[in-house]
Amino acid sequence: MGQMSGRAIAAGGTGAPRPSRQISIVLRPADQAAPPAEPPAREPVRGPADPGSPFAEIQRELDAMVGLEKVKALIYEIYALLHISGLRSAAGLAVGPQVYHMIFSGNPGTGKTTVARIVAKLFQKMGVLPKGHLIEVERADLVGEYIGHTAQKTREMVRKALGGVLFVDEAYSLARGGEKDFGKEAIDTLVKAMEDYKNQFVLILAGYPNEIDMFLLSNPGLPSRFPIRIDFPDYTVDQLVRIAELMAKERDYELQPQAIEKLRQHLAERKRNSLLPFSNARYVRNTIEKAIRHQAVRLLNLYGTGQPGRQELMTIRAEDLRWDAEDA
Ligand SMILES: Nc1ncnc2c1ncn2[C@@H]1O[C@H](COP(=O)(O)OP(=O)(O)OP(=O)(O)O)[C@@H](O)[C@H]1O
Ligand SMILES: [Mg+2]
Repeated sequence: MGQMSGRAIAAGGTGAPRPSRQISIVLRPADQAAPPAEPPAREPVRGPADPGSPFAEIQRELDAMVGLEKVKALIYEIYALLHISGLRSAAGLAVGPQVYHMIFSGNPGTGKTTVARIVAKLFQKMGVLPKGHLIEVERADLVGEYIGHTAQKTREMVRKALGGVLFVDEAYSLARGGEKDFGKEAIDTLVKAMEDYKNQFVLILAGYPNEIDMFLLSNPGLPSRFPIRIDFPDYTVDQLVRIAELMAKERDYELQPQAIEKLRQHLAERKRNSLLPFSNARYVRNTIEKAIRHQAVRLLNLYGTGQPGRQELMTIRAEDLRWDAEDA
């Protein structure tokens, strides 16, 4: 706590030419080719696991997530920047203005909310935010029904988020209705709150990649206010299967090899079919939770009042994995 307190003062400095508000750790969209000049891989991405470091717990939580290597690297960069800024400030060196508002872009179920919680905790541990809680809102929480109602509702959410992170999901929906829509009032109120409560909360706007891009394009003033952009790629089939195995394990279940194979084939098919919506890890979670219910019915039918063995109680078989047409 307190080690970053020099920042706020530095941010308000006058006289000197206004330094860029951008910090240079913006990730390129996944689909954009890396420029050839990029230096060799920035290893090590994460430092040695020093159990005493404030990053240790964050690292444990990130390690528990499958894939997301670039996301993890970026979060480590933010940590490094915060840590070194603290040391620089203590050494009497200039610490540039730092803005931590972020854009999270990614398809459904790619880990945005989970990572936002971890980021909130990182800021709390590093003394940037006193509470480090996360308030997750969507359009309906911000937009009201009559003139003035929206500003009031949005301000109320900002107030709740002070000391932590305000996470606005499907941010694009705020711009959808155009100039006349109350969504615009919500955006204006958020932007004003970013000025009024500078450094008192971090705003994360989340959404699907094309929609977030459209949103930023529709508001020329916005991109520069969100210097950090994190792109969440879709998971590969292998990653989704690993996530399924992890989710089963967390719940004291295990997938039989035939079940894993069935799942792998199903996921590959689902990912190929671009006409159906697909919610990545959330789809996997729903699949596992449904399989657990199917297993319970199977065991009850099989054993009646009898007692299945411990292994039976844990095992998810291929037949327990079933999907309905409307699963997304
Ligand atoms: N990389 C991962 N490893 C393990 N579990 C994951 C991973 N990513 C997401 N999950 C799990 O998948 C579920 C959905 O993740 P989360 O809610 O963070 O996604 P989201 O991007 O916020 O989705 P949405 O856009 O639908 O809000 C959660 O149960 C989360 O724990
Ligand atoms: Mg979410």
